[in-house]
Amino acid sequence: MTDLTLEEKASLTSGSDTWHTTPIGEAVPALTLSDGPHGLRRQAEQGDALGLGDSVPATCFPPAVALGSSWDAHLAHRVGEALAREACALGVDVVLGPGVNIKRSPLCGRNFEYFSEDPHLTGVMGAAVVTGIQSLGVGACVKHFAVNNQETDRMRVSADVDEQTLREIYLPAFERIVREAKPYTVMCSYNRINGVHASQNRWLLTEVLREEWGFDGLVMSDWGAVNDRVAALEAGLDLEMPPTGTDEEIVEAVRSGRLPEAVLDLAASRLLELVRRGEGRASFEGWDLDAHHELAREAARASAVLLKNDGDVLPLRQGQRVAVVGELARTPRYQGGGSSHVVPTRLDNAWEALGRPAFAAGYRLDGQPDAGLSREAVAAASEADVTLVFLGLPEAAESEGFDRTTIELPAVQVALLREVAEVCPKIVVVLANGGVVSVAEWQEHASAILEGWLLGQAGGSALADLLTGAHSPSGRLTETIPNRLTDVPSHLHYPGGDGHVRYGEGRYVGYRHYDTLDADVAYPFGHGLTYSRFTYSDLDARETGGDEWSVEVTVTNAGERFAHEVVQLYVAFDEERPSRPRHELRGFAKVGLEPGDSERVRFALAGRDIAQWSVSRKGWRIDAGAFTVEVGASSRDIRLRAELTSRGDGYAAPLDRMSTLGEWLAHPEGSRALKQLLQGAPGLDRTDPALLRLAMGIPLAKFATFGIGLTSEVVDGLVAAVRGDG
Ligand code: BGC
Repeated sequence: MTDLTLEEKASLTSGSDTWHTTPIGEAVPALTLSDGPHGLRRQAEQGDALGLGDSVPATCFPPAVALGSSWDAHLAHRVGEALAREACALGVDVVLGPGVNIKRSPLCGRNFEYFSEDPHLTGVMGAAVVTGIQSLGVGACVKHFAVNNQETDRMRVSADVDEQTLREIYLPAFERIVREAKPYTVMCSYNRINGVHASQNRWLLTEVLREEWGFDGLVMSDWGAVNDRVAALEAGLDLEMPPTGTDEEIVEAVRSGRLPEAVLDLAASRLLELVRRGEGRASFEGWDLDAHHELAREAARASAVLLKNDGDVLPLRQGQRVAVVGELARTPRYQGGGSSHVVPTRLDNAWEALGRPAFAAGYRLDGQPDAGLSREAVAAASEADVTLVFLGLPEAAESEGFDRTTIELPAVQVALLREVAEVCPKIVVVLANGGVVSVAEWQEHASAILEGWLLGQAGGSALADLLTGAHSPSGRLTETIPNRLTDVPSHLHYPGGDGHVRYGEGRYVGYRHYDTLDADVAYPFGHGLTYSRFTYSDLDARETGGDEWSVEVTVTNAGERFAHEVVQLYVAFDEERPSRPRHELRGFAKVGLEPGDSERVRFALAGRDIAQWSVSRKGWRIDAGAFTVEVGASSRDIRLRAELTSRGDGYAAPLDRMSTLGEWLAHPEGSRALKQLLQGAPGLDRTDPALLRLAMGIPLAKFATFGIGLTSEVVDGLVAAVRGDG
């Protein structure tokens, strides 16, 4: 560091253009950064940050909405590795992905770039992508850190979230990825968190990310997220992207003493370390286009979710007359708009992959009614035994940069479905959408629904593989499909206004809300059908050490086809009046089995899996007592349960004068001290129960006010006794 001038060090902490870090002579080469997350958007020249200009062709893998639905971490790792191979071939040092924000509302315009409403699933899938990317020495960039759950006002809005919710819902995926996958870089988000911009949030970027989680990489800004460069550097942001031409201000700030030089040195040294890591990047001359397309197809196949299949209408049977209806079968929607937009190396469509059966476009993608098109569709469907109706959201409906205001399909498409269903007895709806769409209004017209999300460039052939039965569907929902938008827990608090969005639903995001309240949903978290059936047996849950447990279960393919099951493990807390989510996902395993075959699936649980964030402790707290492990095929399809016990971590919130009688009695030393004091007094058990209940909520210091003996001195004495200084 000593051999660099102040100016050179400042230059390292911002880019040289939209996609490059700043070089210094021969010694420090520029690094190339490229979106991300599901394919390379390598722009030839300086480029733009919004996906407006073209990029060189690269494989468009399924976006996270789909890849997450595979519930297959190994597959995600392989996709990450393929991304890295393309990055190497295209001279890219850091891939700007994965995106691991939590889906708080189905309206978020960027939900297609994120994995799930659940932090455990998001963390596991995100970590797998990162280790895949970094296996070839390419850097990953985990984004957008943090609490970037909407596009509305994304550059200014303050996400106002309580600490427990942050720790339990919005931060754990980042934490897991940082701890387990050690990403080279993290990208801060645009928004503010409880009033402070992520880019200048020292608590977030330094205390939590580095000091608690041990992150040793570089933090870069989202494109344009820096508002005050000095404050950002001080908070722990190392690299401003793209540059705003303010290096001189940094030099000046150091010279005037406003910015300690050591802060600049640290940021510059992290950039140099990233450059050093980049020297380990593999180099390839291009890549095998076919092999990557095939991987994209495999990933797409693993990601589509069969929501419904009444009367086993799928798979299609030999000899059936099949009609395909819907422009989306021919003009697929396979990725979302904005910075993640990839120019694919090729593009499959389902209609061709199905062998070009009878086809009618049915509707216009711009949503304008067209009676002629629907007439043709009805004619085609009336000649068919089965009609595959491709419906979904057009590009204009969802993208980075704005949120949706509805989760309904375009009205012309729903109208078409109704017409077609009148003339053809077997209707299969195939969906293409990045954010969840409601099925409540129209699903009665469909025997089967295959949710295809946005499946990447090979989605068309992957769908054909599933529809024909060449492969069995194996995707599962990573987010609940609600009946109505107004059922969504964040609904009254989304997207906020006046510069703030209040996370009023707290920890009750997605299934944590619906399952705790036992509320009806269209399809629950974790749901997905296949062409076979699975049974669960021999659950064995036991303690293996101090607050460590193992859970084992046997899963058997009891059907007639090879298929996959996604075995899900939840920890549950049965409480009469819930003070925490009723259950939470803590493990999953995807197993492929031949008919009749079984597999023993094993999970490990640790104290953290049942812990809650304690605000008073400023840390995790594990309560002693019983909890339940649930194993099943969705959050609403629990097959087996077992009870386990935790010894707890012995933590009890410290008592003070204002702790209530109830808190004193629940506290081990507190209750001892209190009972000693009350020796000889009429027993609590003989007090009128209603009065006792009332008394339980009264802070000890207030008892004197009610004329119940405990003077201030006595209370002080008790406090001193429990703190060990009396
Ligand atoms: C997006 C990031 C992206 C960056 C560079 C921003 O608008 O939020 O996800 O990586 O642009 O394109």
